[in-house]
Amino acid sequence: MTDAATSHMPTRRDPVLVWDIWVRLFHWALVVCIATAAVTGFVLGAPWITLHIASGLLAMALVAARIVWGFLGPTHARFRDFLRPPAEILSHLTGGDAGRHLGHNPAGGLMMLGLMAVVELLGIAGLTGLGGVLRTGPLLSLPYGIGEAGLELHEILAILLIVMILAHVAAAIFESRRSRENLVRSMVTGTKERRPGDHPGRNVVSRPRIALTVIALLAGLTVQVWQRDTGVPDGAPVAVLDEVFAEECTACHVAYHPSLLSGSEWQVIMANLDDHFVEDARLDDETNARITEWLVAHDASSAQTRPAHVFANARKDPTGRITETRAWDDLHENVAEETFLRAPIYSKLNCLACHADAETGWFSPFLIEIPKETSK
Ligand code: HEC
Ligand code: HEC
Repeated sequence: MTDAATSHMPTRRDPVLVWDIWVRLFHWALVVCIATAAVTGFVLGAPWITLHIASGLLAMALVAARIVWGFLGPTHARFRDFLRPPAEILSHLTGGDAGRHLGHNPAGGLMMLGLMAVVELLGIAGLTGLGGVLRTGPLLSLPYGIGEAGLELHEILAILLIVMILAHVAAAIFESRRSRENLVRSMVTGTKERRPGDHPGRNVVSRPRIALTVIALLAGLTVQVWQRDTGVPDGAPVAVLDEVFAEECTACHVAYHPSLLSGSEWQVIMANLDDHFVEDARLDDETNARITEWLVAHDASSAQTRPAHVFANARKDPTGRITETRAWDDLHENVAEETFLRAPIYSKLNCLACHADAETGWFSPFLIEIPKETSK
C-alpha cells in the first residue's frame, strides 16, 4: 500500500450513517410506548386502561412495521445484517469475534429479535385477556378461562420484557465503554465513526415504497379484522332488570346485578329477608318467589363477565357481603379506605358511585370514575 492510498483510507473520525431515520424513530417511539404501557399497567391501574391499551397497540404496530423494515430497509436495518448463526453469537460472546460491528453485533441482534417477539406476544396475551375477561376487542368471543390465562401470561411477559430491557440498556452501556463510542447518541444521530477493521456490512438498497405498501396493507387488514368481531358478546349479563326486583330491591341500596352472585347465594339471601343485613326486608311469598326465580335464572353462571367469575362463590365472611371477599379487596387495592367513606360515596357497597355501569353487571374498567369529593 502506497502512502497516497493510506491517506485515502477512511480516518477514525469519518462518520458513517448506521441507523436510518426510520430505525431511530421506531426505537424511540417504542421506548415511549413501552414506558407508557408499563407505568399505566404496573402503577396506575384499571382507570388508565384506555391509555394502556393504546400504547400497547401502538407498540405492536411499531414492531410489525419494524419487522417489514427488517426485510426491506437499508443495510443495517435488515435482519440479514444482525441475525447471525448460533456459532457466531457464541464466538462473539466468548470474545472470539474481534472486529467491530457497525450495526447490531451478533448478541445484540439476538436481543433485538427477542425484544420484538416479546412485545408482540405480550400484546397478543393482553388482547386475549381483553377479549376473554373484559369482553372487548377483536378476541371478545374467547372463553373466560382462556382470557384469564392470557392476563396471567401478559403479566409474566411484561416482567420478562422489563428484565430484557434492563439487560439491553446494561449491554449498551457496557459496549459503549468497551468500544469507546456513545451508542445511545448514535441511536439519536444515526451515525457512528468509521474505524479500520470494521465488519463490512453487505450493502443493500432500501425499498421504502414497497415497505410502505406492505405496512399500509397490514394496517388495513388489522382494521378489517378488528371491526369484524365487536358488538354484544356471548355471555353478556341480562341487560333489563326485572321490574319487581327493581322496585323492591332498590329501596335501600343500588340494584345488585343478579350476575354478581350464584343461584344458591341468592336463594340464601332471599330466604332470610326478615333478617337482611340488620334490616327487615320481608316480602310477600309471591313477590319473593318471583324475584328469587329471576335472580337464579340470571345468576353468575349465566354471565361471562369478570365480576360474575370473581364474586360468585368467593369465600365471604358470615355477613355474606361481596365487599368482604379477598377478590373484592384485590380489585380495589389501589383505592384508599377513606375514599369509600367520603361524600358522595359513603360506602363500599355503593358500587354505582364509581362504576357507572354497575347495574348492568359489567363493571367495565373503561367506565370507572371515582367522583370528586362533594361537601356534605
Ligand atoms: C329495608 C332495606 C333493604 C331492602 C328493601 C333490601 N335490602 Fe339488601 N341490604 C340492605 C342493607 C342495610 C344491606 C347491607 C348494606 C350495608 O351494610 O351498607 C344490604 C345488603 C345487600 C346485599 C349484600 C351486598 C354485598 O356486599 O354482598 C345484597 C346482595 C342485597 N342486599 C340484596 C337485596 C335484594 C335482592 C333485595 C330485594 C329482595 C334487597 N337487598 C332489599 C337493606 C335492604
Ligand atoms: C370508591 C369508588 C369505588 C366503589 C364504591 C367501588 N369500586 Fe370497584 N373499582 C374502583 C376502582 C378505582 C377500580 C380499579 C382499581 C384498579 O385496578 O386500579 C375498581 C375495580 C373494580 C372491578 C374490576 C374492574 C376490572 O375489570 O378491571 C370490579 C369487578 C369492581 N370494581 C366491582 C365493584 C363492586 C361490585 C362494587 C360494589 C360492591 C365496587 N366495585 C365499588 C372503584 C370503586
